[in-house]
Amino acid sequence: MDTQASSETIAFSRPYMGDAEAQAAYDAVQSGWIVGGPRLAEFERRFAARCGAAHAVGVSNWTTGAFLVLHAWSIGPGDEVIVPSLTFIATVNVIRHAGATPVFADIDERTFNIDPADAERKITARTKAIMPVDQIGLPCDIDAMRALASAHGLHLLDDAACAFASANRGRPVGSLADVTVFSLHARKVVTTGEGGMIVTDDAELAGRLKVLRHQGMSASDFARHGARPTEFETYPEIGYNFRITDIQAGVGLAQMDRLDEMLALRRGAAERYAAGLADHPFVRAPFVPPGLEHNWQSYQVALTPEAPLSRNAVMDRLYDAGVPTRRGVMASHREPPYAGLHAVLPVTERVADTTLQLPMHSGLSAQQADRVLEELWRLV
Ligand SMILES: Cc1ncc(COP(=O)(O)O)c(C=O)c1O
Repeated sequence: MDTQASSETIAFSRPYMGDAEAQAAYDAVQSGWIVGGPRLAEFERRFAARCGAAHAVGVSNWTTGAFLVLHAWSIGPGDEVIVPSLTFIATVNVIRHAGATPVFADIDERTFNIDPADAERKITARTKAIMPVDQIGLPCDIDAMRALASAHGLHLLDDAACAFASANRGRPVGSLADVTVFSLHARKVVTTGEGGMIVTDDAELAGRLKVLRHQGMSASDFARHGARPTEFETYPEIGYNFRITDIQAGVGLAQMDRLDEMLALRRGAAERYAAGLADHPFVRAPFVPPGLEHNWQSYQVALTPEAPLSRNAVMDRLYDAGVPTRRGVMASHREPPYAGLHAVLPVTERVADTTLQLPMHSGLSAQQADRVLEELWRLV
C-alpha cells in the first residue's frame, strides 16, 4: 500500500488507496460494464446497509444528489430552506440551483453544528426544508432537527457530505433523516474521486431519483440489458445526467473493504492530536459530545481568545515549518452571491475566523502527527 511513511513531507489530505482500488477499476473496465451495471447496484446495496437505510442512489457528486432531492420535493422559487452558513458553499449553492432562498441559521460554538434554537427562529410560512450539516464528520443534533421538521411539516435533508460511517448514539448517519446525502470526493473517508450517494428509507423517492439521474428514463440500462428488443423505455419526466460510473463503484467497493481500517487509523491520529493538545494554552482540540461517533474526515482546532497570534499567522508559521493546514470551515454568507441576504451570524463569523484544520487522513503516521504537535507547541 502506498501510504506516506516519511515524516519529512506531511500531506494535508490524501486518499488511502492501493492495489485493490487499481484492480477494481481494471476489473470494471475489462468487464465491459462501465456505467449503470452490477458494480453500481452492489455499491448502492452495501452503502445503504452500512447506513442502516433501505435504499441508496449513486450520483455524480453530493451537489447533483442534493439538487435532485430538492427538485423531487418540488422545492423552488418562493420557498425557503434553513441551512448553516458555516459549510462548504455547495450546501448553499444547491438551494439556489433549485431556485429557492437559503435562510442561514447560526451554529453551536463547540461542535460547529447548526444551533437548533436559531434554526427554529428562522422558520417562516415559506420554509419548506431544513438542511443541517454534519460538520466535517461530526453528526449534528438530528433529533432536534427531526422534532422541528415534524412540528412544522418540513422536509429534512441531512448534508452528510463528510460524515459517512459517523454515528449518533449508536445510530448510523444515513438512518436519521428523511434523506441523507454523502460525498465521495477525494477528501472524504471513502472516495471514488468524485461521486455522491443519496440514502433514504423512502422506496418511492429512491425509485424516482434513479429515474431523474438518468434523463428521466423509465428503465435502467441494467434492466434493459437482456430484455426483449421491442421493449422500449419511456421518458415520463425531464431528468438529468447525474450518473456515477461502474468504474467508480468498483473503486468504492474496494474502499468499503477498508472502511473500518481507515476509521481506526483516523481515530488513532485524532486521539494523538487531542492528547498532545490537552494542555496547550491557546489551541483547542475539537469537542465531541458524549454519544457521538466522529469519522474524523477533518480535524479542526480553534484558537482561544487569549491566542497571541491570529489564525492566519498561525497557518503561515506552520506552513513555513512544513506543516500544511487549511482555514476552518467557511462562512458562506460572506461570499458575494449571499452577502445581499445580510445575515447576522456572530458565532459563525467568530468560528470562521479562529479555526484551522490540521493534516488528517488515514495514512497520517504517528510521527507525522507528533511533528504537527511539536510545531503547535513551538508557537507558545
Ligand atoms: C458539507 C459539504 N457539503 C457539500 C459538499 C459538496 O460535495 P461534492 O463535492 O461531492 O459535490 C461538500 C464537499 O466538500 C461538503 O463538505
